[in-house]
Amino acid sequence: MKTIDFKNLTALQVMQDAPVIPVIVLNDVAHAVPMARALVAGGIRMLEVTLRTPQALACMEAIAKEVPEAVVGAGTVRSAADAKAAANAGAVFAVSPGYTSAVGKACRDLGLPLLPGVATGSEIMMAQEDGFTELKFFPAMQAGGSALLKAWSGPFFDINFCPTGGLILTNAPDFLSLPNVKCVGGSWLTPADAMASGDWARITKLATEASQLKR
Ligand code: 3PG
Repeated sequence: MKTIDFKNLTALQVMQDAPVIPVIVLNDVAHAVPMARALVAGGIRMLEVTLRTPQALACMEAIAKEVPEAVVGAGTVRSAADAKAAANAGAVFAVSPGYTSAVGKACRDLGLPLLPGVATGSEIMMAQEDGFTELKFFPAMQAGGSALLKAWSGPFFDINFCPTGGLILTNAPDFLSLPNVKCVGGSWLTPADAMASGDWARITKLATEASQLKR
């Protein structure tokens, strides 16, 4: 894998690094480092740790400190305060489930490349107006799936998408074959039961399969 320049990391690099960005929910700080190592061993290093549990920031900190091969990002960034806390914990990119200019500005001020979440044409236009052209399409399956992305490729021909929400190994290829899709996101690489039982080999296997998806 190519070395990453964290200071000049761009949203496009975040999208292009691997076919899948894992969307991670961590309930135990002790799981963070072995899980990150398991994903890296499978060829996935852009890791979206969601701000959905009280332990999320401590988990980011642990990964940033102890797994230098991983690139830690924060998911579920919904406010400027979330973005700041994530940057302080060592996150070097951010993903949001929706978009507000306040989140966009905070990430820009912090130097955090952001993948803003969108599900409609108006949201795409708002994000683009603020300078964002690499967007998360969420919730992808529920909002219209690959058919919607095909429709968007006309008017939004200069936007790159990372569809997330309802994606798994078997439906990811349908999305990855589209020219306006650079990668997909999903939680299937880090199942809660594998995490709870410390089955890191299973996570490496899931990451290996994901990293070999064609795009
Ligand atoms: C997200 O925030 O991107 C989603 O919760 C991930 O969706 P999934 O669990 O259906 O992969």
